Amino acid sequence: MEHRITIEGGAQFSVCAEEDTLLRGALRADVGLPHECSVGGCGACRFELVEGEMATLWALAPGLTDRDRKRGKRLACQSRPLSDCTIRVRCDDSYLPVVAPARWRARLEGRRMLTPDMSEFTFHVPSRAQFRAGQYALLYLSEAQGARAYSMSNLPNSEGLWQFIVRRVPGGAGSNALFDSLQIGDQIAMDGPYGHAWLRDDNARDIVCVAGGSGFAPMLSIARGALAQADKRRVHFFYGARTQADLSAAAELDELAQQRLNTSIVLSSPEPSLPWQGATGFVHAEVERALGAPLDQHEFYFAGPPPMIEAVQEMLMQKHRVPYNQIHFDRFV
Ligand SMILES: Cc1cc2nc3c(=O)[nH]c(=O)nc-3n(C[C@H](O)[C@H](O)[C@H](O)COP(=O)(O)OP(=O)(O)OC[C@H]3O[C@@H](n4cnc5c(N)ncnc54)[C@H](O)[C@@H]3O)c2cc1C
Ligand code: FES
Repeated sequence: MEHRITIEGGAQFSVCAEEDTLLRGALRADVGLPHECSVGGCGACRFELVEGEMATLWALAPGLTDRDRKRGKRLACQSRPLSDCTIRVRCDDSYLPVVAPARWRARLEGRRMLTPDMSEFTFHVPSRAQFRAGQYALLYLSEAQGARAYSMSNLPNSEGLWQFIVRRVPGGAGSNALFDSLQIGDQIAMDGPYGHAWLRDDNARDIVCVAGGSGFAPMLSIARGALAQADKRRVHFFYGARTQADLSAAAELDELAQQRLNTSIVLSSPEPSLPWQGATGFVHAEVERALGAPLDQHEFYFAGPPPMIEAVQEMLMQKHRVPYNQIHFDRFV
């Protein structure tokens, strides 16, 4: 069964009543509904319901403030139409998916420990794995309410392999389900790809990847994608980790074309009893120190926790006036 959605003064599209959120239905129909995280955290997908009935999947989603709720705002990634509806939202073609998202049954094929709290998970779907380097997918785990967003660390491939590097979050329902409950051979629902911070090929600028914590996965994919291409772009890879225990993840970069790759690791809380000669502090400060001005010669990609994203954004946009179209990021809200 389908419901018809009309955007006031704009497009019409259908959503599948059983499984589509408003956001997923819009993107599948090639309607540029604003969005960013797809999991209720960022608020980018706010809209107003003018007419019709819509279920709210996560009433307390942090993407809405109390003021938003009082003003009748809803989140498209947390809304499921229950009837034909009219909505008010400003669409923008820049939100159109670069690869149309689809829903899959994904089977866990492998698991590999990278650090004490980060592992790589490899899923298989019986179809070509189509996404752009730097994008993410939504994983549905029965132990967690709603979906969890995880970025692919590998590249698109014909074998149908989607790889993720996940950090275990203490007490987190989704990440702990992946580490502790999901067995090799188990199947879960997966939806994707999503995300705007994918690797651009339309310029010759050197690439800067800035990864904070579990933001390592999409930056590894970007570096892999850029270095697999037969062009001359260099990749400057900055990894902001916490302690020496996180360093083994960076070994994933060793297999890449080293002559075009510079790697800098910055530890925020190095363990005093263990050796560490490298940089310490905030990763954005190291980017500025290592690259020097001007920064607007580079194409920037970054992923990680919101405070890191805000610090990098502010440094690039306000301090160094790097043009907006050279800045691509995902906030792990
Ligand atoms: C675009 C994006 C890409 C990401 N990529 C990675 C990655 O590559 N590697 C990585 O380790 N982490 C990544 N994350 C973070 C990841 O999605 C999870 O937030 C993290 O693993 C913690 O999840 P948890 O279930 O363990 O913790 P929890 O605290 O149980 O859940 C936190 C997340 O689940 C969602 N959530 C919580 N409650 C509900 C509910 N009732 N209904 C619906 N949703 C709910 C929220 O969106 C919140 O972000 C990414 C996040 C985003 C937004
Ligand atoms: S896209 Fe819906 S809250 Fe982020």
